[in-house]
Amino acid sequence: MMDSGMLLDSRYDVVRNRTYLALDVPSASEALALVERFGAGVTGYKVGLELYNAAGRSVVETLAKLGKRIFLDIKLHDIPNTVAGALRALKDLPVEMVNVHTLGGLEMLCAAKSAWEDVEQPPLLIGVTVLTSLSEEDVSLLGVHGGLTAWSRRLLSLADEAGLDGVVLSASELPLVAETIKRPFVRVVPGVRPLQADTYDQQRIATPLQAIEKGADHLVLGRGVLSQSNPLVALQRVWDEMRVGLGEGV
Ligand code: C5P
Repeated sequence: MMDSGMLLDSRYDVVRNRTYLALDVPSASEALALVERFGAGVTGYKVGLELYNAAGRSVVETLAKLGKRIFLDIKLHDIPNTVAGALRALKDLPVEMVNVHTLGGLEMLCAAKSAWEDVEQPPLLIGVTVLTSLSEEDVSLLGVHGGLTAWSRRLLSLADEAGLDGVVLSASELPLVAETIKRPFVRVVPGVRPLQADTYDQQRIATPLQAIEKGADHLVLGRGVLSQSNPLVALQRVWDEMRVGLGEGV
């Protein structure tokens, strides 16, 4: 049985800061049990809709008190006034990143960006582009013509135009960021699966190595780590792969 101390090794410092483990569980107690199991070596966690709807602000505050970096993955998607109000209501929450759907349109994205104008050090505002669970066929069924890549490029441009700090996107669309955006822009990649792991409902997946080699800044790791028989060993393997992608060897 591997002990979490291994994850504290300083050779993992670079990848530790580029990782968010997805706390996709239905209660604060389950989330905090996972956090305890991974120990001090894991510093970044993603709180998504399941945990936030079940446990709200208090679990975020508890994680912050434990010194964790938090990506609040609540994918806001509503009219501009409502999204801006929702973000203002979150402004004192100690999170590193919050996201909105770029599909909400340019006006909504601009309203989101201006919601934190009076906050000295606001969280990064990240736009979700095309969900990694959608295939080319799903996109066509949605009535989007011209294909998934062109649609992703369009949504990236909107995020850029609205002044967002970055995007959540599939690893396969990472090259589009360099083509489309000419300023520092944070690239967060979910849908990451080590070789042999189950894909579940994700369609546009990549291995940790592929995602890092293509330029991901942060990886969101969910079932590819947490549903493995030994999640600590699975995370260590992912981190070893990420280090290879960063040219650090193992
Ligand atoms: O378990 P799995 O690795 O598929 O989890 C991916 C996590 O990333 C989930 O919490 C999901 O909500 C989130 N996510 C995603 N696709 C996006 C944005 C976030 O899968 N575009």
